[in-house]
Amino acid sequence: MHRIRILQVGDIHYPDWQPVPSEIDAKDKQFSPSISEALRSSAFRAVLRKLRYLSSTDTTNGVVFVGDFTTKGRSEFIEGAFRHFSLLCRGGSESSQTTPLLFVPGNHDVNRIDAFELGKVEKFRKISQIASRLGWCPVPLDRPVSVTVGPKEMGAELLLINTSIGSWELQNLPEFLRDKLRTDDLSKLVDLGNSKSVEDGPAAPTVSAESDTPKDLIDQYYAQLDTPYVSAPMLDSMMEYMQAAERSYGLIVGHHNLLPQKMPRIAPYAEMLNAGFVRSQLLSANKPVLYLHGHIHQDPIEVVTDPRKPRSQLISISAPEISAGFNEILLFVSEENELIGVRVIPYRTRQADGTIVEEENCFIPCPSIARSSLDDDTWGLLKRLETYRAERGTDLLWWNQVVDLVRSTPVAEKLEDALIMLHASGRIDVQDLAKSNRDWRIQVKGK
Ligand SMILES: [Fe+2]
Repeated sequence: MHRIRILQVGDIHYPDWQPVPSEIDAKDKQFSPSISEALRSSAFRAVLRKLRYLSSTDTTNGVVFVGDFTTKGRSEFIEGAFRHFSLLCRGGSESSQTTPLLFVPGNHDVNRIDAFELGKVEKFRKISQIASRLGWCPVPLDRPVSVTVGPKEMGAELLLINTSIGSWELQNLPEFLRDKLRTDDLSKLVDLGNSKSVEDGPAAPTVSAESDTPKDLIDQYYAQLDTPYVSAPMLDSMMEYMQAAERSYGLIVGHHNLLPQKMPRIAPYAEMLNAGFVRSQLLSANKPVLYLHGHIHQDPIEVVTDPRKPRSQLISISAPEISAGFNEILLFVSEENELIGVRVIPYRTRQADGTIVEEENCFIPCPSIARSSLDDDTWGLLKRLETYRAERGTDLLWWNQVVDLVRSTPVAEKLEDALIMLHASGRIDVQDLAKSNRDWRIQVKGK
């Protein structure tokens, strides 16, 4: 088994970064303010430091930025973000200089003037040129881009898709809105009729309604009247990728979510228009597929399956916006190139004390793998566990007991891999897989 390690970084919105200083208990006002400043730290800086450190380790196979490098598609800011993260992710060590850096466009990376003047593909051209100049992987425009990440000979083919092709395409909007937006008179709100309170409206948290007129109306439209989608040719290429006979699982990166977001959102076109169709198509391939995205500034991890397709599994993982941290994604892949499982390691900020911490991991097992995928060493381990159970009359072991049993402390990672493989094949059950291996409880199944 081998592992593929990817860092997933959410929405950036450069340069609207506001490093929040950590709290200082400074009740005695007689001290100079400069001492408080010297003692403050910022969780945002801690995020950047952690990202730089993890990017520079040999085992990181790629850093994926899931879009929205900036807001309002200002190309100078997009370039600034590309430059900043080139230095950050590739400046730490010699090996990091070749770490693949990947980017998919977000709705906020689209400049509305470019969208008017250049059209739905050419509006991304500048982004694509900046990425290429700075040595990033190609940016997907009207077709997906395939990138191989991971150890040589055993890498995974990852597909970058562009879900923002419909962003700022006014021709997609209803005519009355389109005409209103085309005029220069944006000083007034568009009259959409009177709203009446209804008791059977959508369930949502109570918020105090603010009725003041937005300062910048065009921004309101920008945020609310978006029409993101996956184009038909893009989806065709995605399905070709998913259905390839030699491929046993998919790894896809896009900006928008495929599942509706948790937080109620009051905007006419907040979700990707054909997210449901894309999702059902991916499930129809009857293979596990990992979909990494951003956009919603939250970090749900959700799994969807179609019970009529036993190997179908859509694992959807969102990264939060960068000020809240980022994800490390670890793929466990068998020698037969089957996806055994995915571990998500969330690094999240603590604003109050200006730190970043590793939160509880999440392990997502993939549908059971074939018995033939287990190598001799893994079978050998199973035999020892079965013998142990027969001799001692107990079928529940702690990690340390398994280590003693096989006397393999120097190769803990190999032992972890073997136990995960046996778990994925249904031979054993590893309880608390999301935690560190010291907390695992290993149960041998069957007679
Ligand atoms: Fe977005």
